[in-house]
This record gives sequence, structure tokens and C-alpha cells, in this order.
Amino acid sequence: MSPVKCAVCVVVVALLWTGILAAEDVQVPCSFQDSCVLPCTFKPAAGVIIHWIQQRTDNIQVHSFYDNEDQLDYQDQRYLNRTSLYKDQISGGNASLQLTAVTFQDQGRYKCYIGTNQGNQETFIQLEVQAPVGKIDIQQVGNTTTCSSKGIYPQPVLTWSTDPPHNLTKQKPTVQQDQELFSISSSLVTSLNVNKTAFSCTVTAGKSRRTATLSQQATVSEVNTDVSIPCRGSTSDLTGFRLTWSFNHRETILMHNFTETPSKVQIQEPWRQLVQNMSESGSLELQASSLQREGIYTCELSDAKQTHISNTFLKFETKQVTGEPGYLVPVIITVIVLALASLVIFIIMTKCKGKPSGGAGESTRGVGVPLSHVGNGNRRDQRLSTEENSPY
Ligand SMILES: *[C@@H]1O[C@H](CO)[C@@H](O)[C@H](O)[C@H]1NC(C)=O
Ligand SMILES: *[C@@H]1O[C@H](CO)[C@@H](O)[C@H](O)[C@H]1NC(C)=O
Ligand SMILES: *[C@@H]1O[C@H](CO)[C@@H](O)[C@H](O)[C@H]1NC(C)=O
Ligand SMILES: *[C@@H]1O[C@H](CO)[C@@H](O)[C@H](O)[C@H]1NC(C)=O
Ligand SMILES: *[C@@H]1O[C@H](CO)[C@@H](O)[C@H](O)[C@H]1NC(C)=O
Ligand SMILES: *[C@@H]1O[C@H](CO)[C@@H](O)[C@H](O)[C@H]1NC(C)=O
Ligand SMILES: *[C@@H]1O[C@H](CO)[C@@H](O)[C@H](O)[C@H]1NC(C)=O
Repeated sequence: MSPVKCAVCVVVVALLWTGILAAEDVQVPCSFQDSCVLPCTFKPAAGVIIHWIQQRTDNIQVHSFYDNEDQLDYQDQRYLNRTSLYKDQISGGNASLQLTAVTFQDQGRYKCYIGTNQGNQETFIQLEVQAPVGKIDIQQVGNTTTCSSKGIYPQPVLTWSTDPPHNLTKQKPTVQQDQELFSISSSLVTSLNVNKTAFSCTVTAGKSRRTATLSQQATVSEVNTDVSIPCRGSTSDLTGFRLTWSFNHRETILMHNFTETPSKVQIQEPWRQLVQNMSESGSLELQASSLQREGIYTCELSDAKQTHISNTFLKFETKQVTGEPGYLVPVIITVIVLALASLVIFIIMTKCKGKPSGGAGESTRGVGVPLSHVGNGNRRDQRLSTEENSPY
């Protein structure tokens, strides 16, 4: 073999070797301020020496172990009290490092060096710290819809969409960074009818993404009837969702957690007598009652990826006698008046019949037989009077 060929061989092998090493870097994603495990294993043998080194700019000592104990005299201050090994598993070949309260400075490449009396090895880990998109706030004032989210890393992007779809003028969101974490906010001004359009805002940062959708509608209901308020955005399968109904953006009506089986509903005290039930679709069933309240009913439906907020402006109106021609009203009233008059006459006549014998005890007994009639009459009376009152 010529020296040239041999040199080529060496270069190829070296390239392959570095290539393999680079490919072997284990990617470990970790959430900001969480605890993470940097994995590292070796073939169990005696005389274990472990060095965890961060290789960001130069080699920083993260954690060392030999002579069967932690050796932290040369540990970098940044890792003070934040590192630990699983001591009971080292003899079994587990040299994984636990790192707590992870910060963005912790990002980068880590080397796990292992030396035993059988030889030594190095493995590499890439730690990637992220702060996933959490809660998104979305609200509407007039024709302006505002969307915002904070505590995000890496730098987020925000996009708008509507349902039904419309071409929206491009909005440049405001992005701010505070102690490495980003916040983002965007306001969309449209001339679309906000009562007929659902607005969605999607925030994406690295691999994390979340969408918030806002829709609103107005509903007019009759007084003293049951009301069903739908929760927009609800799917046929609510497993994994959390649902909250609230009133006027302040008062919680109920919380329904579908992440547990069986799902759990919690209805807040003042609403317990009013909320009839929660349908499987998530709509709110309000019972006919004098306690019925006008206002904004908000349903918030969330899972890991999305939040749907729907506002319903509920208004009560007294029943209109619609469908029946106007001239029927005086006829109905006349019939009612006649019925009442004959009832009164009937009662007077019954009373007169019982009267002659006189005594209070007897009078009660005398009324005894027609009492049921009187009772019925009273009940009819009530129903009639409500009907009579309602149009006014
Ligand atoms: C680290 O832990 C020791 C002992 O528990 C404690 O005295 C020290 O204040 C801690 N240092 C930091 C920076 O938390
Ligand atoms: C090492 O031990 C820890 C703690 O029990 C465990 O979480 C981890 O999965 C183990 N690593 C390997 C590679 O077995
Ligand atoms: C939106 O704009 C695109 C190109 O600008 C156009 O092709 C499309 O028809 C528009 N859609 C609507 C709904 O206006
Ligand atoms: C808001 O949108 C409505 C149409 O839905 C439009 O008539 C009105 O002028 C808009 N107001 C502003 C301030 O743009
Ligand atoms: C949307 O509905 C609310 C509540 O009924 C009403 O106040 C508002 O004027 C409506 N907006 C439009 C653009 O129709
Ligand atoms: C819903 O249930 C899950 C699982 O028990 C729990 O982790 C979560 O905190 C609950 N959410 C609410 C809003 O109660
Ligand atoms: C509430 O609704 C669920 C299903 O929609 C039904 O199984 C349950 O019996 C209802 N509860 C009451 C008190 O009506």
C-alpha cells in the first residue's frame, strides 16, 4: 500500500470517525427552569471515573466523580447545587446527570467522560433549552382583536387567520425580550363583522406552537325558558380538553375537566340551581328561572395545542305573541275575563250553599268537597294570569 493511499485511508477514517461522533450527539430538549437528565451509560467495570464537561467556549467542569464519591472542588459556580448523579446506579453503568433549574446559559454541548480499568469512553449531548408557548391572551374591543403571549423561547412568530377565511392585511407583531424570554403581541384591525367571524392567532416558537381562537355571537332568549348556549370550537371528542364557562369575564360558572375519566364537573355555588346540566358537547344548559342573568357567557375550551374562546351575549326578552294575528289577543282576554267571572260566581254559589248551618268548623267541612275545584281553579288562575301578564 503506497503512503499516499494510506494517508487517504487515514483521512477517510478520521472523517467517518468525526462524522459518527457528530451524528452520535444526543439531542436533549429541556424546558426553561425544569429539571433534565443528560443520559450517559457505560459498560460496568471497576475504578469508575466520571467527568461531565460543558464545551460551550472552553471546557467547564460540571460534575466529577471518582474514588466512589462526588468531587466538586473544581465545579464551575454556575452549576453549584444543581447537579447530581444517580449514585446507586453507577455500578450498573448509569452515569446520567440530573441538572435542575435549567437556564439558557446551560445550552450547548456536554461531554460525558468515563474511565474504568477496562478503558475509557466519551459521549456527547446537545442540551437545547426552550420555553414553549403557554397561555395566549386574545380579546376584542370594537373592531380590534388583540393577541399576546409571553415567557417564550426561542423567538416566536405570530400569524392571524379567520373563519370564514379573509385576506388580512399583514400585521407586524411587537416582539420584546426580557431576561432572554420573549413576549409577542399583535393587534388586528378589520372591518369584518366581529359577530360573524372567528379570529385565530397562532404563536410558534421552535417546535412549540399554540393557537387561540375567539368568536362571539349575540343570542336573544325568552324570559322563563330554558336556554342552551353552545360552546363553539367543541369537537365530537372532548377527551383531553378542559372547559370553563364564565360570566361577564369575572365569575366562573363551571369547570369541566375531560383529561380525567370519568370527566369531572365543578359548578360554582351561586350557579348550581341555575345550571341544569352540561351536555356532552360542552354547551351550557340554563334552567328557566327568575335568576336568569343577562350578560356575556364565555366558554373557554383548551387542550395541549389550542384554545377556543367563545363569547355569547345573552339577552332576555319578554315573549312576543308572534304567529297569531293581532285580533286574537282581545278575544283571548275576553275568554279569560269570562272564565274568571264564571269561576267567581261558582265560588260564591258554593259558599252560599254551605252558609246556612253557620259554624266555622262546618264551613270548612262544607268547602271540603269543592275544595279540589277551587284548587284547580286557582292553578288555572295562575297560569292564565302569567299568560295575561307576559305580553306586557
Ligand atoms: C448550596 O447548598 C449548600 C448546602 O445545602 C448551601 O449552604 C448553599 O447556600 C447553597 N448554595 C446556593 C448557591 O444555593
Ligand atoms: C439512569 O438512572 C436514572 C434514575 O433512575 C433514570 O431516570 C435513567 O433513565 C437511567 N438512564 C439509563 C440510560 O438507564
Ligand atoms: C386573497 O388574495 C389572493 C392574492 O392576493 C387572491 O388570489 C385571493 O382571491 C384573495 N382571496 C379573497 C377571499 O379575497
Ligand atoms: C367596524 O366594522 C364595521 C363593519 O362591521 C364598520 O361599519 C365600522 O365602520 C368599523 N369601525 C371602525 C372604527 O373601523
Ligand atoms: C355584535 O354583537 C354585540 C352584542 O349584541 C353588539 O353590541 C355589536 O354591535 C355587534 N357588532 C356588530 C359589528 O354587529
Ligand atoms: C384536569 O385533570 C388533570 C389530570 O388529573 C390535572 O392534571 C389538571 O390539573 C386538571 N385541570 C384542571 C383545570 O383542573
Ligand atoms: C347530564 O347529562 C349527562 C349526559 O349528557 C347525563 O348522563 C346525566 O344524567 C345528566 N344529568 C342530569 C342531572 O340531568
